Amino acid sequence: MDGERIMKSSTLSEGLTTGASPFIEQAKRAGQLYIDQPYELYSEENHQAWRKLYARMLPRWDRYANEHFLQGIHSLCLDPDRIPHLEDVNRFLSPLTGFQAQAVSGYVPSFVFFDCLRNRRFPTTITIRRSDKLDYLPEPDIFHDVAGHVPMHTDKHFAETLVRFGECAHTAAEMAAGIRGPDTRVHYLTSVIKAMARFFWFTIEFGLMRGRDDLKVYGSGLLSSYGEIAHAIEAPEVQRYPIQLDWAINQGFEIDHYQPLLFIVDSFDHLFSLVDQLEAWMKAGKLSNVAPGEPEVNEEDLKSFLHAELD
Ligand SMILES: [Fe+2]
Repeated sequence: MDGERIMKSSTLSEGLTTGASPFIEQAKRAGQLYIDQPYELYSEENHQAWRKLYARMLPRWDRYANEHFLQGIHSLCLDPDRIPHLEDVNRFLSPLTGFQAQAVSGYVPSFVFFDCLRNRRFPTTITIRRSDKLDYLPEPDIFHDVAGHVPMHTDKHFAETLVRFGECAHTAAEMAAGIRGPDTRVHYLTSVIKAMARFFWFTIEFGLMRGRDDLKVYGSGLLSSYGEIAHAIEAPEVQRYPIQLDWAINQGFEIDHYQPLLFIVDSFDHLFSLVDQLEAWMKAGKLSNVAPGEPEVNEEDLKSFLHAELD
């Protein structure tokens, strides 16, 4: 066996497990953000993790998910037993809204992430959590991204809202480019990125929507969490309030426990109008000094805005 074949067989046996994938480590070392989905590398254990996650979420989606998500799951024809091929997902998704799931090797700096949304591409993780650790995962995996996010992208109004988020990021980068002093520019961007990240968190990741008779979940962090989707709707101690943009952009959040505070929108048209308002506030300078606190804005996020290619 030559070296290349030995490497391939050892890579094959290790699968595409989150935090333990030689293929992903190699892509990161080579500086490749956008990658192919090497489907043959998934192990049986990887598929088993998908199967278990999907099977236990199904009844919870029926009970707690909003109707647009349920329709999306139906439209994408996801296989309950096998990790999906992104190509197949895109074949169903693209004709509906123009969105595509695009495989990435890991963290996507915030401007790049929002700019992908503007171009109707969704950066998608291809690894999956271990099948014996289904609950706790600090980073996204393909179950969160494809079963939690992508079904929402089949909805026209929701898809337009994501594109609008991307346009907001462009406006922020343009405004930053017009600021002379480098320190002032960094201060401005830190605040604006924080505001956008908070708003994204409280809507796209953890949003609730008013249903006909009760509250439903549309946030993907909730839609991909067996425990939290029920907690978000049922737990008496969770604070659930009609969304206020001024509150959401000044409200910190922590990612390592169930969310104690959730915001409710009336519809995706409502959500879209809030993203419009976010941009109007940005242009008026209202996002330049939001409350300090979580999330931290890292160097990579700042650089992605500072060096943004604007067209
Ligand atoms: Fe997410």
